[in-house]
Amino acid sequence: MCGIVGFNGHHEAAAVLLDGLTKLEYRGYDSAGIAVRDGSKDATIVKAKGRLDHLKEKTDNGRSVIGTCGIGHTRWATHGEPSENNAHPHCSDDGNVIGVHNGIIENYQELKEKLLRNGYTFYSETDTEVAIKLVDYYYKKYLGTPVDAINHALVRIRGSYALELMFKEYPDEIYAARKDSPMILGVADGESFIASDVPAILKHTRTVYYIGNLQMARVGKGEITFYNLDGDEIEIEPKTIDWDAEAAEKSGYEHFMMKEIHEQPKAVADTLHSAVKDGKIDLAGLGLTEEEIRELQQIYIVACGSAYHVGVAAQYTIEDLADIPVRVELASEFRYRHIPLAQNALVIIISQSGETADSLAALRKAKEKNLKTLGIVNVIGSSIAREADHVFYTMAGPEIAVATTKAYSAQLIAADCIAVYFGMVRGRITEEKGAEYLDALESLPKQIEKILEDKERLQWFASKQSNAHDVFFIGRGMDYAVTLEGSLKLKEISYVHSEAYAAGELKHGTISLIEDGTLVISVLTQKALIEKTVSNMVEVKSRGAYLMGLTTYGNYDIEDVADFTTYIPDTDPHFAISLAVVPLQLLAYYFAVSRGLDVDKPRNLAKSVTVE
Ligand code: AGP
Repeated sequence: MCGIVGFNGHHEAAAVLLDGLTKLEYRGYDSAGIAVRDGSKDATIVKAKGRLDHLKEKTDNGRSVIGTCGIGHTRWATHGEPSENNAHPHCSDDGNVIGVHNGIIENYQELKEKLLRNGYTFYSETDTEVAIKLVDYYYKKYLGTPVDAINHALVRIRGSYALELMFKEYPDEIYAARKDSPMILGVADGESFIASDVPAILKHTRTVYYIGNLQMARVGKGEITFYNLDGDEIEIEPKTIDWDAEAAEKSGYEHFMMKEIHEQPKAVADTLHSAVKDGKIDLAGLGLTEEEIRELQQIYIVACGSAYHVGVAAQYTIEDLADIPVRVELASEFRYRHIPLAQNALVIIISQSGETADSLAALRKAKEKNLKTLGIVNVIGSSIAREADHVFYTMAGPEIAVATTKAYSAQLIAADCIAVYFGMVRGRITEEKGAEYLDALESLPKQIEKILEDKERLQWFASKQSNAHDVFFIGRGMDYAVTLEGSLKLKEISYVHSEAYAAGELKHGTISLIEDGTLVISVLTQKALIEKTVSNMVEVKSRGAYLMGLTTYGNYDIEDVADFTTYIPDTDPHFAISLAVVPLQLLAYYFAVSRGLDVDKPRNLAKSVTVE
């Protein structure tokens, strides 16, 4: 999404703006620009397509642009292709109003027609140019102040915006307005700062104002006045950012969740490498003897939430590669149900925190029954890690966002290693086949990075679909297992209701819920089942569904059925969902961001459910 910055002070603005935009690069962009005033009515606007370096080159790193008041923008194209012409800042034809914007003006077409009828012309394809000329229109129509003009415009605008505006008649001021898109403001030593997010101004000030929805600000040099939509002055309490930059630093990401999504390649690689000895998967260090592994007649995997979804996926892999029957149980059910447990069984408890009450209780129940227990845990020294007979630590590192991503992926790898190792010990997999599987697992981190490079397409799709009310995820086999996780991610951070369904099960009732425009996300990585899933896609499509396909490169026929298709690199089907889960995580993230929600701390949720 776009990034915005603003500066009004005593230093040269251009260098501050470019530095701030650099801190926001993680937000994804395809062009950038700045507008700076030197106290006169003339402003200098410089824009460049592509990376920020191009803008820095055009401005000699800001040195060629003089002035101490300015705004800047990195654009991620939503309306109008990436180009210098479409890059922000945009301005009214006489330069009266100049502005940048992060968000989407949903009714920009109707506003554009209104302005065209009133003699305005347009040089770009952007919704932002429309918004800025609408402010100009009201400024001239009511001959009022910038606040009046902005008020009138915001009443007409539908959509989301973090808007920064400069007016020719007010050369020493910047105006800002916000709805749904992120924006913060800060002051220090007689200077003022505006940005999409803290990292862009943290080096200048720790005193920030979180401007609310439908609120505006007049930004002078070191002083800011806030207004509501009626133009009445309001007070906003400043907050002090007390992050320890090291510990809480999101590395420039807007949310810990996005940071952790991007840490998955490392989490996967580190977890895998912890299980590799002398070039092959070797879990002897877990403490289970080869004889115990050979004598296993049953595995129970017990967990909650996303960890449970890992168990559902692991069931397919362990049964297929190690030929051991696997039952997957919700810990909250397992702990209370009378289950006749096989004696030659291993109970695997999967838990990121190692403190989930239901999972800990399930572990204790298994131990009471004298069953061997293995914990797959991310937090070293946690209760489950300490109490299980054996523990496989995932190497995901601290996971801050409530919605798990990198820990889930690390747990999947741990389960894959167990499946391969058990398969080799039990003679179901040759050493050569084991080496092939290891090769496939070792390719996953780079393949995840490749998926992350293309995340803007999912962001675009999410911005189009984020008003959805009911979303269905469908898949067969392990694709079904990953739809469970995709559905939970969407629900828990975007508050959009969704359901994961085994694709073959839809026709047994739930398909009656499919209506015109219902979003159905279909996962197709399991080669042997793709044709079956495609027929389920046709079934829902014929009932009006809007279909997204998630499949591996090469399966381009999916585009004949799906309205939007996203691709992941090809890999061994046993491990494909380690890749398929990444677009689903990103989709949920972008849904939540476009709905202006607290991605890292969703309502009602805790990172670790340490109570029943
Ligand atoms: C997943 O995004 C949720 N945060 C939640 O389902 C979580 O996976 C579940 O509570 C289990 O937590 P644990 O892995 O720490 O035991």
